[in-house]
Amino acid sequence: MYDNNPTLPGIRKEIDENRQGEAIFFEDIHADGKRKFYIESYGCQMNFSDSEIVASILSEVGFAPTRIMESADLVLVNTCSIREKAEETVRKRLQVFNQLKTKNPGMLIGVLGCMAERLKAKFLEEEKLVDLVVGPDAYRDLPSLVQTADDGEKGINVFLSREETYADISPLRLDSNGVSAFISIMRGCDNMCSFCVVPFTRGRERSRDAFSIISEAQHLFEKGYREVTLLGQNVDSYKWTNPETNSVVNFAQLLKEVAEVNSDLRVRFSTSHPKDITDEVLHTMAAYENICKYIHLPVQSGNSRILDLMNRTYDREWYQNRVEAIYRIMPDCAISSDIIAGFCTETDEEHKDSCSMIEWARYSMSYMFYYSERPGTPAAKKLVDDVPLEIKKERLNEIIAIQNRVSLQHNLADIGKTFKVLIEGDSRKSSEEWKGRNSQNKMIVFPKSGSHKPGDYVYVKVRDANSATLLGDLVTL
Ligand code: SAH
Ligand code: SF4
Ligand code: F3S
Repeated sequence: MYDNNPTLPGIRKEIDENRQGEAIFFEDIHADGKRKFYIESYGCQMNFSDSEIVASILSEVGFAPTRIMESADLVLVNTCSIREKAEETVRKRLQVFNQLKTKNPGMLIGVLGCMAERLKAKFLEEEKLVDLVVGPDAYRDLPSLVQTADDGEKGINVFLSREETYADISPLRLDSNGVSAFISIMRGCDNMCSFCVVPFTRGRERSRDAFSIISEAQHLFEKGYREVTLLGQNVDSYKWTNPETNSVVNFAQLLKEVAEVNSDLRVRFSTSHPKDITDEVLHTMAAYENICKYIHLPVQSGNSRILDLMNRTYDREWYQNRVEAIYRIMPDCAISSDIIAGFCTETDEEHKDSCSMIEWARYSMSYMFYYSERPGTPAAKKLVDDVPLEIKKERLNEIIAIQNRVSLQHNLADIGKTFKVLIEGDSRKSSEEWKGRNSQNKMIVFPKSGSHKPGDYVYVKVRDANSATLLGDLVTL
C-alpha cells in the first residue's frame, strides 16, 4: 500500500508570516510528456500533509509535479482561512496565477482546502479565473473535476464527509528532507472554540484506521525516515474502533504502537488540547525514549473568563494542573503554546493573565496572534469584536516580547547540556554546519565533522544560545 512512495529532493521553501504560511515548490522529475501540476500550500501542517495526498492522487492519473509555476498545466493553491491575513495572502497569489493564465489560457487554476470550503461557489463568482474549487474531503474527486474543467466547465466539490480519512492513500512526500514526515491520524474537529473556523472548513472529527497509521510509519522508517509527527487538530481525542474486534484504540495506545515501530524512529505529535490530554498519554511519553519530550499545548488565553468566552472548556487552573502534570511526569519536557491577544471584551488585566501564563508555564516558544474575527463562527455571531486594532497589536507585541525573553532563558539554561540530536540537513547559513533537533524540538546548529549524514543521531553539547536556536559541538559519549 505504501510501496510506491517516491521522495522528491531539493525542495525550496518560502516562509510567509509564520508556520502557517509556507509555499512548497519541488523539482521537476520524470515529467516528460506528462501534464504538470504545481502546488502551493498555506496554513497548518494538516494542509501540507493534505497537499501530499493531492500530489499522490494526481500522480496516479498521470500528472507530474513541477516547481516551475509557468510550466504547469494545473496550478493549485491549498488555502487557509484561520485569520483574515491568511485569506488575503491567498487572494494575492491568485492575482499572480490569474496574470499567468491570461498569457496561457489552457492553464487551469484550482483552489483547495479551507478557503475553498468556506467560500464554496462564491469563489467562482469572486475569482472568475478559478476553474476548480475543492474542499478538504473531496480530493479523491480531483481527477474528474480536472476533466470537467478541461471540458470548459467549472469543477466544484465541497462536500464534507463523516468518514473520509484518505487512509489508503500513500502520500507523495513533497517537502521532504528524507528524515521527517507528517502522518495525519485524524481529520476535522468537534470542538467549537468560538473564534475558530476549522470546524466549519474541516467538518466532523474522525479518526483514521490505526493499522494504516502504523503501516505508514513502518514504511517511512524502512525508507530511511527517522521522525514522524502524528497530526490532528486535537490528537488526544483520537479514538478508533477496530471493526473486527470492536476494541477501541485511544491516543496513548496509538502513540505506544507507533513508538514500537522502531526505537530509532522519533515520534512527535500535534496538537494537544488541554481539556483532553491524559496522564496515560504523559506516562506513555515518559516510558519511550523515542517519543519526543515536547508538547504543543495551546492555552489561547491565560484568563478564565476569556477562556469561557472562547469556549475552550477549561479554565486557568485546569490548564495549570495539566502543565504541572507534564513537568511532574517528564521534568525535561518542553511545552509550547498558541496565544490570541485581544479577544472580544478582553480587558488590560485579563491580557496580563496571558502574559503571566507565559512565564508561569515556561513555554519554550509560542505562536502568537491577535484576534481576527471569522465570519460564521460562534464569536462572530454572539460576541462583539470590540478591542481596537491598535490595542490588539500592542498586547500582541507585549506577549511576543515576554515570550522572546522566556525562550531565551529556556535556551540559555541548556548551555553545557548534551543532547541527542537527529541531523536534518545543512544549517541555513552554512554547508559547513549541520542543523538538527533535540527531543524538546529545539533546533541545534553545530559544525560538521566526521562522516555523518541527515538521519543520523549524534550527541551535541550546547555552547551558546539565542532565543530561537542552540549552538553546540559534537561530542562522543
Ligand atoms: N486545533 C488547534 C488549533 C488550530 S488553529 C488547537 O486547538 O489548539 C491554530 C491557532 O490559530 C489556534 O491555536 C489559535 O491560536 C489561532 N487562531 C485560530 N482562530 C483564530 C482567530 N480567529 N484569530 C486569531 N487566531 C486564531
Ligand atoms: Fe479550532 Fe478549537 Fe478545533 Fe483547535 S480545537 S481546531 S482551536 S475548534
Ligand atoms: Fe488553516 Fe484550515 Fe489549517 S483554516 S490552520 S488550513 S485546518
